[in-house]
Parts: sequence; C-alpha cells; structure tokens
Amino acid sequence: MAEKDSFTWGVSTSSFQVEGATREDGRGDSIWDTFCREKGRIVNGDTGDIACDHYHRFSEDIALMRDLGVDAYRFSVAWPRVLPKGRGAINEAGLAFYDRLIDSLLAAGIEPWLCLYHWDLPQELHDLGGWQSRDCAGWFADYATLIGRRYGDRVKRLATFNEPCVFTLLGYGYGLGAPGLKDKEALHRAIHHVNLAHGRGVDALRAAVTGASIGAIHNRQPCLPASPAAADQAAARKFADYWNGAFPEPQHFGCYPASLAGEIERYQQPGDMASICRPIDWFGVNHYSPNYITESPAEVLGVGFAGPPAEVPRTAIGWPIVPDAFADTLLEVDRRFRLPIYVLENGTAAIDKLDESGNVNDPDRIAYIKAYIEAMQRAIQAGADVRGYFAWSLLDNFEWGSGYSQRFGLVYVDFPSLRRIPKASARWYARFIASHHMAAAKSGAIAAGS
Ligand code: FCB
Repeated sequence: MAEKDSFTWGVSTSSFQVEGATREDGRGDSIWDTFCREKGRIVNGDTGDIACDHYHRFSEDIALMRDLGVDAYRFSVAWPRVLPKGRGAINEAGLAFYDRLIDSLLAAGIEPWLCLYHWDLPQELHDLGGWQSRDCAGWFADYATLIGRRYGDRVKRLATFNEPCVFTLLGYGYGLGAPGLKDKEALHRAIHHVNLAHGRGVDALRAAVTGASIGAIHNRQPCLPASPAAADQAAARKFADYWNGAFPEPQHFGCYPASLAGEIERYQQPGDMASICRPIDWFGVNHYSPNYITESPAEVLGVGFAGPPAEVPRTAIGWPIVPDAFADTLLEVDRRFRLPIYVLENGTAAIDKLDESGNVNDPDRIAYIKAYIEAMQRAIQAGADVRGYFAWSLLDNFEWGSGYSQRFGLVYVDFPSLRRIPKASARWYARFIASHHMAAAKSGAIAAGS
C-alpha cells in the first residue's frame, strides 16, 4: 500500500444533516427539530427526522469513504443524543452510537475528526436561555469533558464549534436558522457566550484527552461591497467584523474587533478574555465564496446579503464561484493566525439528476472542486501552511433552510429509498486522492534515497 503522506484528504458531514433517527434511542430534541416544525421555516417543510439515516447506515457510508480513499472523516456529535436534556442524565445508547462509528472508522483506516457543535443545541438548554445565558458556556464545557473522556482514547482531532459566525448571525440576527431570532442583543449575547464556551471547551478537552489536537472551525470568506457606494462599503466593513472577526479575534488575540467591542462589553466579566483566548493547535477554514454585502436598514444590523455582480458565475444555490478568493483567504489566515490550516469544508450544490443508466453526472461539481483545490495549491506554494482539505459533503443531506432541495454530496442520496449512488465527482475525487498519495509516496522514496 502506498505510504500515506502528511496532507490529509477527507470528507465532512454534520449530525443533524445526516443522522436522522431523531426520536430514537433516547435522543432529545434540538433547536433544529423545533425550527423544522415551525411553518414556513424550511423549503418544502423538510425536517431532519430521517435525513440520510446515517444513524443506521453508517457502515455503508464508511464503505463509501473507503472507496473514496479518504484519510479522514469529519463528523459532529449531536449534543442532545448523548445528553438528551443537554446536561445531567447521560444517554448511553447515544454514546454507544458514536463508539460504533469511531471504531468502524478506525477499522477502515479512516481518522475520525470530531466536532462538538454543529448547530444542534439541545432544546431544553435553549428553554433555559441557551446561548443567551452565560451558563451555557459551563454546560458546553461539561459536555466537552464527557465527549473527551469517552472517545479521547481513540479520537485526537477535536473541534469545539463549526462556523460560530454563521449560526449566531443567521440564528439570532437574521432569523434564517434556529432558533429564528432577529434581535441584536440576543446576537451579541450569543457571540460572547459561544466564545466563552469555546475557551472552556478547549480547556476541558485538553484536560480529558492525552495528545489532543484541538481547533475551531471558522467560515472565512471575504465580505465585499455589493456596489461602490459608500454605504455599501461601510456595510461590508461592518459585516466583515461580525463574519470574520467576532470569533477568531477574541479566540486568538483576546479582543473583539473595535466596532463590536462596545456592543459586547456589557456582557463581559473580568477574566473573560483570558478564558476565551486559549492556545489551540490548528485553524479550521470553511470556505465557499465571497459574501456580497449591502446596506439594508430593515435588518437588525442594518446590513444584508446581496448577489454578486452579473459577470460572476454562481453555483446552483446562487453562491459566487471565485477560486482566487479562496487562495487569498488561505494566505490571509496564514499570515494572521500563524497556525496549521485545515480546510474542513469546501464544495458546491449542483443540480444532480439520476440518469436512465443509474449514473449521476456532475461536471459542475468536478470543475468547482478542481478549481478550488488548484487555488489551495497556489496558496500553499505561496507559503500558506495548509495541511488538509475536506470536501463538503460525503452525501447529499439536509441543507438547513433549503431542506433537501440543494444537493452538496459527492454521493447522491435517493431520499425516498435512501439508496446511495456515488456521483462522477466521487470517482474524480477518489482518482485525485489516489494520484496525490502515489506522487507523495514517490517523492518520499526519492527523498529517502531509495
Ligand atoms: C456550511 C455549513 C454546512 C453546510 C455547508 C453547505 O455553512 O457548515 O453545514 O450546510 O455550509
């Protein structure tokens, strides 16, 4: 077998988007279960109740990962599956599911990367204040300890949060994600308490897991003005402080961006910044496209999303395709944070159809991923310390407010039957990874003089 090189190729998913089995084996409700039940929130009234049924079909999914030849799989733990009320009583059946998943991954030679929080906050904790409450940081730290102690003998790659800027902005500021609020104060409280939870979570994992390699996963995308107008330029600067600054800056440098500091001060207590700013081992980047921002007085922050200029190509979900922005982002993260970078999400929605011969041809996805990987390689050549790339996603899955209407998978899921059909992009990615491993093994052998 070709020796594995040090660059990690992987695929990512998240609990709520793939697991299903939301009422099975003692799982509690999350805020996303509730949000899906609210009329008009999700396209077609879709829910996560069945999703990809990964809860029951994870062995089949691991076999698909083996066919891809990936080195690693990033998944998240559903907090309410292991602690149905978010704290207190432990659900052994839920913990046992992740034991099975982790053990099967290791048996397949695939490294598990575990993220503690990919947006599915236990509903019971939300009812007690959730991210509005400072207590939530402590509840999160206890959950992190539980997970670290249970799986830390087998899982060393651990992330606290996935895209804190996205779930706080969309969930508390724009009403587009759970819990569906449009409330500036709620947003600011959530930002600070999630930051506190990150810091305490890092400490909890560090204490529980020998040899842990810990990071946080940030969605990092340039925020560009939708027009040259001064108001749009100011809106883009303001939005960038929230999107790209509100979490990485306090977590790495111990302070909020100047434009936010005054807003958040009132929720801070002495010592908070030191608790938030804890040493970590790597910086997780999720990147899809630049954000185009406009002044929008109707929104709670006075800024909103706009489309890109007409000449910029877009994916099926409408996101701009600008590979150079990815290269710039990686170089910028490298310069600013000076940590090994792992790209933990990148990919595209496409209009995928099962043809009469039972195949799914997705040339647009292949073109997107190829162009983005090439952009990453340009950044690496220019000096960015990027150590891994994980495609979003292994499977078509529940795409939040878009429900099942947007397909991001390398593997097509026929939702009525839950049958999995690797798309042409899966075969492309498998060939790409194999050739990369082969080239790396060869150059390793040459370097070793054999
Ligand atoms: C990211 C989310 C991920 C998925 C992709 C398409 O913002 O982290 O769960 O929905 O977008």
